[in-house]
Amino acid sequence: MMKSYDKISIGEERENTQVCEPIAEYCRATRPHFRQLPLFEMGEAETARGDIRVVELFAGVGGFRIGLERASARYKTVWNNQWEPSTKKQDASIVYCRRFGTTGHSNEDIATVPTEAIPACDLLVGGFPCQDYSVATTLKHSGGIEGKKGVLWWQIYRIIHESRQKPRYLFFENVDRLLKSPATQRGRDFALILASLCDLGYVAEWRVINAAEYGMPQRRRRTYILAYRNDTGIARAAQDALPWVLTDGTLATAFQVLAKDKAKSFSIDGALDEISVRFNTGKAKCEFENAGIAIGRQVTTVSTVSDYDGVRVTLGQLLLPEKDVPEPFFITEDDLPKWRYLKGGKQETRVSQNGYEYKYSEGSMAFPDAPDKPSRTIITGEGGSGPSRFKHVVRTESGRYRRLTPVELERLNMFPDGHTEGVTDSRRAFLMGNALVTGVVEKIGTVLLHNIDTME
Ligand SMILES: C[S@@+](CC[C@H](N)C(=O)[O-])C[C@H]1O[C@@H](n2cnc3c(N)ncnc32)[C@H](O)[C@@H]1O
Repeated sequence: MMKSYDKISIGEERENTQVCEPIAEYCRATRPHFRQLPLFEMGEAETARGDIRVVELFAGVGGFRIGLERASARYKTVWNNQWEPSTKKQDASIVYCRRFGTTGHSNEDIATVPTEAIPACDLLVGGFPCQDYSVATTLKHSGGIEGKKGVLWWQIYRIIHESRQKPRYLFFENVDRLLKSPATQRGRDFALILASLCDLGYVAEWRVINAAEYGMPQRRRRTYILAYRNDTGIARAAQDALPWVLTDGTLATAFQVLAKDKAKSFSIDGALDEISVRFNTGKAKCEFENAGIAIGRQVTTVSTVSDYDGVRVTLGQLLLPEKDVPEPFFITEDDLPKWRYLKGGKQETRVSQNGYEYKYSEGSMAFPDAPDKPSRTIITGEGGSGPSRFKHVVRTESGRYRRLTPVELERLNMFPDGHTEGVTDSRRAFLMGNALVTGVVEKIGTVLLHNIDTME
């Protein structure tokens, strides 16, 4: 089942194997305990009593693993799966194995992995790809996932459903628009996710968290979902829905909020295939606010704003000294006008492929990016030297303009320096565009462990 990577060089233990100082300082200031992790940690995860056995799906380069293992040595990733369908070369998997070893790693399409091949765990985690989650036919019959095969949410569903011992806790991450998609049936996909988690026997809470609103170096807004099996102490503690969402819950403790509006409550009714067809048809407004909880398909949701007044890390603090930046990252004088044009605001007439003229307009982007603020969201196209509207550009001390290096992109996601070494620079950027801000997982992981210790 597991593929081995005999040819991967593991690399030497190096000196700069940890997160850079501004990030370490942020972590020390915002958390009671902070662990620097060595860059290469090999070997089988040996679990002891009190450890939380973690299975990491859609592992990418291990953002969940880094965050959780930094939160506590009691989080032990016992198995992980990562497979990139769009390329032959499996860069994320290569990086993951260089970093954590090949033991317990699976580089296969998760749809082809039988549930029995996945070890039992206490916590199942994953940043599953954002897709259309609708199901064509009923999911009711045993093990029968009749939804579209490539739709990966239903692989998570299948694994939980078929597990002989369901994980006590689940922890997922997705883009913020998950709450609103698809455009024709706002909130349908999220309703399907919440309904299926409730049907599987979980209480599920969620929050949209922008890492920069809590002092982290990147404006990256993502939906985080935590679910607790109904027979756990945390699920019982969460029954008082609104206080849990606003003050007492795992997410509210890790990332404090204030209510912006009144909470609303509704239930998600019908079989999953009915929700697929009927949920919110024709209504423009999304049902789900940026915080909430579903208990037995009863949803309580409320619009919140962050309540944070602590240390903040900026893009400028994470930049390498100019002398350490390789020449290809600098923008040549010849290319500068193209960058300026793409970043600039425009109102122009364009011609479509089939010959129609149309008016095109867009606002301007910051150029260069401000060093005294957190960065914008890193996207998968951040790498490569071609001019782009969305890639970050900074101005150096000498007045030159340059793109961000792979190490700087790692820092913006709070990964250790050099984490993605071993693949090309543009793939390193792609991997960081897919990854998450590990500091968010770390804080949630810290509070989750506390709740496990005190509520179970
Ligand atoms: C949003 S990314 C998650 C990134 C990860 N959290 C990290 O920190 O790097 C989703 C991942 O799922 C992987 N993936 C997509 N389809 C898959 C499949 N069928 N089986 C396994 N992994 C898949 C992608 O290659 C990608 O790395």
